[in-house]
Amino acid sequence: MHTVSSISLAGGQGKTTVVLFVARLLAFQGHTVLLVDADPQSSLTTFLGHTVEPDNPTLLEVLKKQVNTEDGIYKTQYDNLFLIPSDDALDNVQDYLAGSGTGAFTLKKRLASVAKLFDYCIVDAPPQRSQICLTVIGASDALMIPIETSVKGLQSLIRTLELITELRDDQEAFNGEILGVIPFRDRWVGLRRTTESESNIESMKQISTQWLESDLVLPSIRESEKFKQAINKGLTLHQMHQDDLAYPIEVIVEKIKGLK
Ligand SMILES: Nc1ncnc2c1ncn2[C@@H]1O[C@H](COP(=O)(O)OP(=O)(O)O)[C@@H](O)[C@H]1O
Ligand SMILES: [Mg+2]
Repeated sequence: MHTVSSISLAGGQGKTTVVLFVARLLAFQGHTVLLVDADPQSSLTTFLGHTVEPDNPTLLEVLKKQVNTEDGIYKTQYDNLFLIPSDDALDNVQDYLAGSGTGAFTLKKRLASVAKLFDYCIVDAPPQRSQICLTVIGASDALMIPIETSVKGLQSLIRTLELITELRDDQEAFNGEILGVIPFRDRWVGLRRTTESESNIESMKQISTQWLESDLVLPSIRESEKFKQAINKGLTLHQMHQDDLAYPIEVIVEKIKGLK
């Protein structure tokens, strides 16, 4: 099992959207995929139409080792796609992770027992630099960094790269691959990208070259209502005949399938 997480240290950057579309395309292609909702805001759990019942174990109980990892895994409405859900109680795990001394490796350890059951594990990270975020990065073989094409997005990119390089170089908690920066809500008018999107994507290239010594900016996700419609209708972008919009998702999926 390869574990790939969607990281970006601000809200509204496209983390959950990328997780959902990437995981659904992998599952659609026949791979077994485990989704992990590691954000207490639990948008991924909601997008999948999953309701957490009071007695049902979630990621909280899995991380605290109150249940076996398998007991926190649920089927979704999609073939090949499974979920460890969360709800806002997940915030209660922060102290547990901080107190354990090896909190950055907790999720990695919990996932080890189910690694044989899935081809891929795709994790949705929280928007803050929290203990949960650290354990998500620590569990990852690879990271995807969605960034809104806005000034807020550029700030998120810098904070995110700062955290990843710190975990890699100082704490040795991450030695995986950075799949790339995915510009999110890239705005076009007709056949032209807006000048604002153009300059923000150019800045993303400069920032990622500065931090990572290579320009890792991937094809962008266009601003479009079709993504929300696809989520609401439970369809893939291909099923909605939106092949152009699906292209950036396909590129990420190919990179994930290329992981060694
Ligand atoms: N291509 C798109 N264009 C415009 N809005 C989108 C697009 N895809 C998703 N959205 C919406 O943008 C919002 C933020 O995306 P989300 O993935 O939830 O970000 P994050 O998980 O980083 O907070 C969501 O309300 C989502 O429905
Ligand atoms: Mg989210």
